[in-house]
Amino acid sequence: MNQTSRDGFSSRFGIFAAVIGSAIGLGNIWRFPYMVGENGGAAFLIVYCAFVLIIGIPAMLSEFIIGRRGQGNSYRSFKQLAPQKPWYWIGLVGIFAAFIILTFYSVITGWTLEYVAIALKDVFSSSTVVQDPAQVFEHFHTQALKPLIWQIVTMLISAIVIMLGVRKGIESSAKILMPLLFICLAILAVKTLTLPGSVEGLRFLFSPDFSKINSGVILKALGQAVFSLSVGMGCLITYGSYIRKDVNMSRTAFSVAIADLLIAVLAGIVIFPALFSFGMAPEQGPGLVFVVFPGIFQQMIGGVYFALLFFMLVAIAGITSIISLLEVIVVYFVEEFKLKRVFATLVAATLACGLGAFSTLSFGPLKHVKIFNQSIFDNSDFLASNILLPLGAFFVVVFLGWFYDINQIKDELGNQGTLKMRLFPVFMFIIRYVAPIAILLVFLKGLNIF
Ligand code: TRP
Repeated sequence: MNQTSRDGFSSRFGIFAAVIGSAIGLGNIWRFPYMVGENGGAAFLIVYCAFVLIIGIPAMLSEFIIGRRGQGNSYRSFKQLAPQKPWYWIGLVGIFAAFIILTFYSVITGWTLEYVAIALKDVFSSSTVVQDPAQVFEHFHTQALKPLIWQIVTMLISAIVIMLGVRKGIESSAKILMPLLFICLAILAVKTLTLPGSVEGLRFLFSPDFSKINSGVILKALGQAVFSLSVGMGCLITYGSYIRKDVNMSRTAFSVAIADLLIAVLAGIVIFPALFSFGMAPEQGPGLVFVVFPGIFQQMIGGVYFALLFFMLVAIAGITSIISLLEVIVVYFVEEFKLKRVFATLVAATLACGLGAFSTLSFGPLKHVKIFNQSIFDNSDFLASNILLPLGAFFVVVFLGWFYDINQIKDELGNQGTLKMRLFPVFMFIIRYVAPIAILLVFLKGLNIF
């Protein structure tokens, strides 16, 4: 397939919006704040920033290089770069990982749609009955049917965007949704910052407690950085293959990483002042978004509108990430099995929903099914986040750092000699030594080996 017949991103802003759409997700708005909450506030934030800069950005760039050089899905790109070598297995495992992430990520995103619906109902109803958020959540997410329906709706919305193609679907939707997400978040930040007692929350977020930093926290920060930047499973290889040859990828990776970081911090600025203002503890997990927050909104003047805004924001963040995960699988089906895009999307979405149903039901009817002492949902999360992602990221940087021609890397990264590349030696040093070692530590920690 040559450059002209292959669908791709059209403008620099389009690329930025699409990649940031993938990066910003539940990882920023749901996972990051409770990670900060549990692991020493600002001290965690500082370590996290360091990892984004020295490992996240080089790893993103490595995936972009492989994708744009290889001009194919994550499997095919490896085959192009290393014919006759088994490196393409990284691409295949990445596609499998995308599938696994989809199965559980769509569960939580589906829940946010239910909360958008609840908020909409509250906006239009005059009823003043106040329900206990913990009960509402418990009742909703342990059912069989409703969460399943929302999961299917989530997948369907994402599938429609994918069917429209890279430029007309992924890029166009991201160009609208990403600014919208930013506006929602900014309005919410202004609102929570003006709540009485909000300073306490800001102090928590921005004043470091270094006594909380230990090896476990450092490794958690690295894991969070990798997850949040969508590194490790071919997502950015796939998007990289859609980036035009004249675009400065280093600049794209850098600006996406910074924007991703800013949005995570902004989410923290929304969440912590609100928590402290209403005297709630920085609790962890699904409860933070689905139980604590509705409780806070109930006590706010105009809370239903802010609830609507907030859950729309989380839903958008989730859906644009799902789109990027689905695309990894769809373009693999299209290019390797010569399926039509629409059909490939239907197959991928149906498979993901079918398997994802087990994750959804593992909160309700299948609650008692335990594998390795964990629910199906937790197993999928563990397999993807703690095993497949770190492995994928590790092999991507090792492949590029040690097994690919350095002149080709320089050529691709420097747009065939047209860009200045002062930091190139630093980049090579990181992908050869720093990143592989750090990622290996996360991996071993994730498996509780030490
Ligand atoms: N980065 C997204 C988030 O923060 C999730 C995500 C999308 C992802 N695509 C990915 C994570 C690829 C790892 C790999 O929620």
